Amino acid sequence: MSALMAAVEQGREAERKTLPGPILLLGAPGVGKGTQAKELVKLWGIPQISTGDLLRANVADGTTLGRTAKEIIGRGELVPDVLVNEMVAARLLEPDAVRGYILDGFPRTLVQACWLDARLAAQVGALPVVAVSIQVNYNQLLRRITGRRICPVCQSIYNIYVNPTKKEGFCDVEGAELIQRDDDTEEVFKERMRAYAALTSPVVEHYRDQGRFAEVDGDRPIEVIAAEIVAAVERLRLQG
Ligand code: AP5
Ligand code: MG
Repeated sequence: MSALMAAVEQGREAERKTLPGPILLLGAPGVGKGTQAKELVKLWGIPQISTGDLLRANVADGTTLGRTAKEIIGRGELVPDVLVNEMVAARLLEPDAVRGYILDGFPRTLVQACWLDARLAAQVGALPVVAVSIQVNYNQLLRRITGRRICPVCQSIYNIYVNPTKKEGFCDVEGAELIQRDDDTEEVFKERMRAYAALTSPVVEHYRDQGRFAEVDGDRPIEVIAAEIVAAVERLRLQG
């Protein structure tokens, strides 16, 4: 290899080390995946790809996928893997995902995890995944889910108990009236937790076994958790 080519290659390698790459935020309903993803977006300028948000957008738009997903989401069950993988595949092809992306709520089954692993393995020059699992206890999760309110315009996430708006019921950023998700009831939360334990817990173990994995305590201030996630991602990324 010529000196010039070697320098170019070195430059590419240095650049790769500064790219966030694919980050997976794993954790039960309400642990703060969406909240943390929004913090990381501000820091790294890579997109948040939330399968829950994408599915809800399909429901709102009345697409074929949305019509299938609506009742499944309402019951707290998981949308079939093939449909979710197809939706994620399309989203990953968008140009803003080139430097990396934060997957929030995906993969949620071993089938989805194996699909993502195979996709990245087949992609020349793809950066390896870093997976972060956020932990919060059951009672705290229930309080977070039932207290959550969302801005329908900018998607800011609030909580009437622990993260309230300045003016009750209205977004601090947009001033829009906040809404509550249809699946944010105690009954549906219990079903979502059952689905998490049965189908998503094995995904956490899958990524733990792969090594590029960190676990963070999600029962602390939002900015403290975000700083720990950033430190973990930077440490794991340097592992190569
Ligand atoms: P999805 O939208 O992904 O829901 P979820 O996994 O149940 O997670 P949540 O969005 O409820 O919680 P979160 O972890 O994002 O917490 P947040 O930051 O909002 O999925 C919904 C449904 O879509 C699924 O049930 C399924 O049907 C379907 N689906 C989605 N992805 C799928 C997939 N891959 N495969 C198949 N089906 C799929 O925070 C929660 C609350 O806590 C907020 O009020 C927030 O203000 C508060 N909070 C956050 N952090 C803190 C903190 N540090 N301290 C205090 N309060 C905090
Ligand atoms: Mg979310």
